[in-house]
Amino acid sequence: MAVIGILDSGAGGLSVFREIRKLLPRARYVYYSDNAFCPYGDKEADFIIGRCTQITEWLRENGADAVVVACNTATAAAIARLREQFPLPFIGMEPAVKSAALGTRSGVIGVLATAGTLKASKYLITKGRYGGGVRIVEHTGSGFVELVENGILEGPEAEKACAESLLPLLEAGADTIVLGCTHYPFLLETMRKVAAQNGYSGIRFIDPAPAVARRLVQVLSDAGIPTDDAHPGTALFSSGPDKTLKTLYSLIDKEDTVREDA
Ligand code: DGL
Repeated sequence: MAVIGILDSGAGGLSVFREIRKLLPRARYVYYSDNAFCPYGDKEADFIIGRCTQITEWLRENGADAVVVACNTATAAAIARLREQFPLPFIGMEPAVKSAALGTRSGVIGVLATAGTLKASKYLITKGRYGGGVRIVEHTGSGFVELVENGILEGPEAEKACAESLLPLLEAGADTIVLGCTHYPFLLETMRKVAAQNGYSGIRFIDPAPAVARRLVQVLSDAGIPTDDAHPGTALFSSGPDKTLKTLYSLIDKEDTVREDA
C-alpha cells in the first residue's frame, strides 16, 4: 500500500492532482489544503517553510510515502529544507520557462506567478538557465488565488482580474504565457476569453502540471513505491473552514469522467 501526499496553500494543487490521477488512477492520495494560511504568495519564506514542515509531518502520520509540493511558491521557499528534513521523495513545481522559451515565435514569454515565486532564487536560477535568447516579462496574478479560493472562475470579476494581469504581458508581445502558480489553471478559460476579446489570438498557455505528473511517476518507480492500491481514492483535508476544495474537486472529477467517456 502506498499513499501520495499532495500539499498546497489551498485548492490550487488540485490542478496538479488532476494530471497525476490521469497517470496513476489506482493510487491512494491525501490532499492537504492549507487554506487557513492562504495565500502563501505574499508571506515570508520562513513562515512557508514552517507550514510545509508541519504539513509534511501530518502527511507522513497519514501514511504518505512521497509528497508532491503542488505549489510553486512553497516549492521555491521550502522544498530544499523539506528534502533535508524528511527521508521522503519530494516532487515540486517549476515554472515552465524552458518549454516556453523553446516554443515562442515572438521571442517574448510572459510569466504569471505569485510575488513569492518571482523573487525566489529558485525561479531566478531557472530564468537564467533557460531564458537566454528570449525576453521574459512577468506579472503577479493579482487576486487570482482569492478568486479561485472563492470558487469564482468566470464572470465579470474574474475577467477584470485576468485582464489586469494578463494584458500587460500580451501588450509586451508575449505569445506564450507560463502559468507559474497552481491556482491559475482554474482561470485558464477566462484568460483565453480575455485574450481573444482584446484581439490576441494563438496565445499558448503552459501549465507545468502534466510534466510534474510524469516526473512523479518516474520518481516513484525509481524509489520502488507501488502505485496500485487495493483501495484507491482521495482524502481531502483543509486547515481552515473550507469554501472551495470539495467544489473544485467535484469539478475536476466531472472533467475526468467527461474526458474518459469522450
Ligand atoms: N498555488 C500556489 C502556487 O502555486 C500558492 C498561491 C498562494 O497561496 O499565494 O504558488
